[in-house]
Amino acid sequence: MQNNLQHQQADWWQQGVIYQIYPRSFKDNNGDGIGDLPGIIAKLDYLTWLGVDAIWLSPIYPSPMVDFGYDVSDFTGIDPIFGDLTTFDALVAQAHHSGLKVIMDYVPNHTSDQHPWFLASRSSRQHPKRDWYVWVEPKPDGSPPNNWLGSWGGSAWEWDATTHQYYLHSYHKAMPDLNWRNPAVKDAMFDVVRFWFDRGVDGLRIDSAQRIMKDPHLRDNPPNPTPKVTSYKLLGDYDSQLHLYDRSHADNHAVYRELRQLLDSYSLQSPRVALGEMHIFDWQEWASYYGQQLDELHMPLNFGLVYVPWKASAVRQHVDAIETALRPGAWPNYVLDNHDEPRITSRIGPEQARIALMLLLTLRGTPTLYNGDEIGMHNVEIPPQLVHDPWEKSLPGMGLGRDPERSPMQWDAGHNAGFCPPTVKPWLPIADDYQQVNVAAQREDRHSMLALTRALLQLRRTTPALSLGNYAPIAGVPEECFVYVRQSGEQRRLVALNFSGSEQHIHLPALGNGFIRISTHLDREESVDLASLHLRSDEGCVIESADGQTN
Ligand code: GLC
Ligand code: CA
Repeated sequence: MQNNLQHQQADWWQQGVIYQIYPRSFKDNNGDGIGDLPGIIAKLDYLTWLGVDAIWLSPIYPSPMVDFGYDVSDFTGIDPIFGDLTTFDALVAQAHHSGLKVIMDYVPNHTSDQHPWFLASRSSRQHPKRDWYVWVEPKPDGSPPNNWLGSWGGSAWEWDATTHQYYLHSYHKAMPDLNWRNPAVKDAMFDVVRFWFDRGVDGLRIDSAQRIMKDPHLRDNPPNPTPKVTSYKLLGDYDSQLHLYDRSHADNHAVYRELRQLLDSYSLQSPRVALGEMHIFDWQEWASYYGQQLDELHMPLNFGLVYVPWKASAVRQHVDAIETALRPGAWPNYVLDNHDEPRITSRIGPEQARIALMLLLTLRGTPTLYNGDEIGMHNVEIPPQLVHDPWEKSLPGMGLGRDPERSPMQWDAGHNAGFCPPTVKPWLPIADDYQQVNVAAQREDRHSMLALTRALLQLRRTTPALSLGNYAPIAGVPEECFVYVRQSGEQRRLVALNFSGSEQHIHLPALGNGFIRISTHLDREESVDLASLHLRSDEGCVIESADGQTN
C-alpha cells in the first residue's frame, strides 16, 4: 500500500505523539502564579508516564508579554518569568534522558516592538537595520500605503511620528513584521535556528508560517464577496477582504526550502522536524507546503478538525480530503485544538471528546495533543476585568478571545488545582470543576479521560498498524458512524466511532470476527462478530480484525 510506512523508515515525529505545553499555564514552580520551566521539568515524569513522545513549548523567550510570548524581544534567550538558559538546558537534557523530544516555537513573522532590531530600525531612516522591517511612505493624503488589515482589528499599518513612515504589523501594533525579503533578516533568523539546534532542540513549530512573505508591490487586497462563507471562523472586519497579497505568498516556498536544508544538515546528527502553523483550508494549497520534492516543511499543521462540523460524514470527508491532497511520502497530521482555539470538550461535549481523542490517536498521521485535553479540561469563562488576551481586548465580545483555553492545568484537588501554591493568585482563573477534573483524581479512576488517553497512547505505541499503517475508510456503515481500517503488513485494526448519542449497529460480515482492544468507555475487551457490531451511544472501539477484505 502506498501510504504504508515501515517501522525502520519512520522518524520519531511520524511515529510519535506531540504534546503541546502552554508554559504560562502548565505548572508554576516559584509561586508567582505563572507557569515556568522548573514546573515543566517537575512534570516530565508525568509526561513519560502518560506516554507522549515530544513536547512542543509555546514561546518562552524574553517578551513584554503583550501577546504572552509571541511578541519576542530576544530570540536566543529565556524570559526570567520562565527561567534561564541553564534551566532550559536542564529541561532538554532531562527530556532527552526520558526519551522525550523538544520542539520550540519559532516566531519568524514578527518581533516585539521592544526587540533591539526594531528599536534600531525605528530610530532613523538611515539606520542599517531600517530595512529589517517593512517601512513605507504614506499615501499623499497621509493615510496608510494600502488597505491591509491587522488580524486583531484595524489597519495593519502603524504611523511612526519620529521617522514619518508607516510600519507593517500583521497582528498587534506592538508586533512589527520582519522583512524577510532582506537577506540579512533571513540570515539572522536562520542563526536563531542554529542557536537552538546547537542546544539540542529537536524541532520547530513555526508560528504564522504562511505570512512571512508579502506582495512586494504591497497591492490592495480585493474585497471578499462572501465573507461569511469563505472564512474558517468569523474574524470581523478581517473577513471583508480576500487576503491575496498580505499572506500565503508564493515566495514563502523558497524560504522553507532553504530552512529545510538547514534542518537537514542538523538531521544528519539526529532527525529534526519543522511544523508550520498554516491557516489554509484549501487542501491543495496547504499540501504545497510539504514541497514539490517533499523539501519544505515536514508537516504544515492541519487545522481541519478544529472547524469541521462534528458529524461522522464531515469528519470522514475531511480525512479523505487530506489523504487525497498528500503527495506520496507526505506525512499527515491532525489537531483538535490548541492555545488559540476552543477546547474540544467545550466544542463537542465531554462524551464526544472521548471519540475525538480516539480519532486523533488512531488516524494516520502525527497527532498534537494540547495540554489539559488528556483530562477533558473545558474552556473557562473569563470575566471582562480578568481578560488578558490582546485579541479579546481589541475586539471584545466577538468570541475571539483565547484566555478560556489557556486556563491553568488542573493537577490535583487542592486549592489552585496544584498549579501554583494555594496562597497565590494564578494568572488566569482555574476551572471551577478542578476538584473532580484533575490529573491526580483521574489517575485513580480507571474509566477517566486520562486513563483513556494513556491507554490509547500505549496501544498506538505498541501497534504499528495504528502508528504507521495505511488508512482506508469503510463504506456501508450508519451515517452516524465513521469506520476505518489501519493496516501495517498483516496487522489490521478497525476503528469504529459512533458520533451520536444513540446506539448504532454496524454490519460488516465480510470482516469475520474481531477482538475489541479498547472501547472509549474502557469497559470491554472481548471478541465480536463484525457482522453485527453494536456501539453504544458515544462509543468508539479499536478492534483487532484478523481477516476478510476491507475494501
Ligand atoms: C499564532 C499563535 C498565536 C499568536 C499569533 C501571533 O497564531 O499561535 O497565539 O497570537 O500567531 O504570533
Ligand atoms: Ca512561576
